[in-house]
Amino acid sequence: MEETKDNKYQELEKRNQAAELGGGPERIAKIHASGRKTARERIKYLLDPETFVELDKLVVHRNQDFGMDKQRIPGDGIVTGYGKIDGRLVYVFAQDFSVFGGSLSRANADKIVKVQELSMKMGAPLIGLNDSGGARIQEGVESLAGYADIFMRNVRASGVVPQISAILGPCAGGAVYSPALTDFIFMTKESSYMFVTGPDVIKTVTHEEVTKEELGGANTHNSKSGVAHFKADDDEQAMMIRELMSFLPSNNMEGPPVKPCTDSAHRTDEKLQTIVPDNPNKAYDIKDIIHSVADDHNFFEVQPHYAKNIAIGFGRLNGKPVGFVANQPAALAGVLDIDGSIKAARFVRFCDAFNIPIITFTDVPGFLPGTGQEFGGIIKHGAKLIYAYAEATVPKINVITRKAYGGAYCVMSSKHLGGDVNYAYPGAEIAVMGPDGAVNILYRKLNDEEKAKAVEDYREKFCTPYKAAGLGYIDEVIYPRHTRLKLIQALEMTENKRESLPPKKHGNLPL
Ligand code: HXC
Repeated sequence: MEETKDNKYQELEKRNQAAELGGGPERIAKIHASGRKTARERIKYLLDPETFVELDKLVVHRNQDFGMDKQRIPGDGIVTGYGKIDGRLVYVFAQDFSVFGGSLSRANADKIVKVQELSMKMGAPLIGLNDSGGARIQEGVESLAGYADIFMRNVRASGVVPQISAILGPCAGGAVYSPALTDFIFMTKESSYMFVTGPDVIKTVTHEEVTKEELGGANTHNSKSGVAHFKADDDEQAMMIRELMSFLPSNNMEGPPVKPCTDSAHRTDEKLQTIVPDNPNKAYDIKDIIHSVADDHNFFEVQPHYAKNIAIGFGRLNGKPVGFVANQPAALAGVLDIDGSIKAARFVRFCDAFNIPIITFTDVPGFLPGTGQEFGGIIKHGAKLIYAYAEATVPKINVITRKAYGGAYCVMSSKHLGGDVNYAYPGAEIAVMGPDGAVNILYRKLNDEEKAKAVEDYREKFCTPYKAAGLGYIDEVIYPRHTRLKLIQALEMTENKRESLPPKKHGNLPL
C-alpha cells in the first residue's frame, strides 16, 4: 500500500521535473550561450518572488506525424500561469525555446488562450514573453488556427486589460501579429528580432541584402519602424516591464494605482521661469519641464527613440499616474509629422482606455511641410491625433509653453477638443501662423522695412496668450514656476470627471 502511494508521488515528481527541464541541459546551455535566459528564469525575474503559479504544466502536444508521437515534453514549449507584480495579479506566458524552438503547436496555443481568457475574466494584465521559431512546422494548419485564436483574444482584450509583450528571441512571420496587437512591446538588443518576411525571402523577392538585426532588431523597431516601445540591453533589463506596470490599472474598470507621495504638491521651480527661451527660434528640452513637475522628477518615457519631436510617457502627480504628451522643441522644432502624430495618438488612446489622465505640453510651430509628408498621408495621420484627443474622456490638461500655431493649436488638447483645463505661460504664442508667414501673405507688396514693422505689430498683437485668454480658450495664464501645483490642482478638480460619448458601435478612426 505504502509503496503504491510512493510510486504515485514519484510519478508526479518525474513529470514535473521533465516539464521543468524542457528541452534538456544542452539546449538550455545553448540558450544561455546566446545571452538569453530560459522561459522559467525570465518569469522569475518578472514576478515578485515565490508568487508564480503554473498552469497546464503537463500539457503535451497531440501530433502523431514526423515522429512527434515519440517526442512529447510536458508543457510543450511554453510556460503559462499567474503571479504578482508589486503585489498585484498578472497573467504570464513565456515561450520556451529549448522545446522545438518555442514553436507554436495547437496545445501550446490553447495554453496561451487559457491565460488570455483568464486575464479578461479576472481583470488582470497579460504579459507575453516571446521567443519562438513560429508555427510548429509539423502541425500545419492546427498551428495557424492557434495563432488566429490568439489574435482574436488579443483584439477582444484590447482596452479591457493591459497587454504587454517582450520579444526576447526570434519572432517572425505571422507570429509578429500577436505582439503587434498588444499595448506595449519591449525588445532586447542583439538577441531579439521581429519581421514578417526574413532576409532570405527579401533577397529572393527584392534582391535587397539585409541582416536580421538591421531588418528587425531592437534598434530598428525602436527608432525606425516604431513597432516597439522599449529597448533593453538584456533579458534582465527587459523586466523593467515591472516599472511600466506600476503606472497601469489592472483593467479598464479601475483607476490607476495611487502611490503615497512625499514630494510636495507646492514645490515650485524657479528654473522654469526662464526655461523657455525668449527667442522663438531657440530650442529647449521639453523633458526638463516634465521632469521638473513630476513626482520625484520621475518620467518613464515610452518610445524615447522614435519620433523624438513628440515625447510621451508616464509619471505621477501627487501620487496619481498620468500620461504626458509633449511637443519637443529640441527635435525638428517640435513639429507634428506623420510618425509623431501616430505615436501620440496611440498613447492618448491607451491612456483614455485605462483611465489615466492626460497632461499635454504644447510648443508646436505647426505640421511639417513637404511632399514626403503630404504623399505619406499627413492628412489622415494628423487626423488620428485629433480623433484621439477628441474621443478621450479622461481628464485632459494642457499647458501651452510657447508656440501653438495653426491646426496644431487645435490638435494639442485644445479647449475645443474637450480640454478640461488649459493653461498657458505668459510667453505663449497662440495664432493662426507665425508672424513672418502671416505678414508674407497679408502684406506681400510691402518693402522689407515695412514688413519688419508689420511682423513686430503682428507679434505684439497675436503672438501672446491674451487673445485666447480673453476668449476663455485659456483658463489661466500661469507662472511657469507654479506648473506642478497648477497641474495637481487641475487633476484634483477633474478627479470625478464623468463624460460619455454618443452611443455607437464604434467610431471610424482614420487608419
Ligand atoms: C518546429 C522548430 C521550429 C518550428 C525551430 N524549431 N523552429 N521546430 N517548428 N517552426 C526547432 C529546430 O528544429 C531545432 O530543433 C530547435 O527548434 C532550435 O532551432 P535552431 O534552428 O537550432 O535554432 P537557431 O539556430 O537559434 O535558429 C532559430 C530560428 C530557426 C531562426 C528560429 O530555427 C528557424 O528559422 N526556424 C524556422 C522558422 C520558421 O520558418 N517558422 C515558421 C514561420 S511561419 P533541434 O531538435 O535541432 O534542437 C509562421 C506562420 C505563423 O510562423 C502564421 C501566423 C498567422
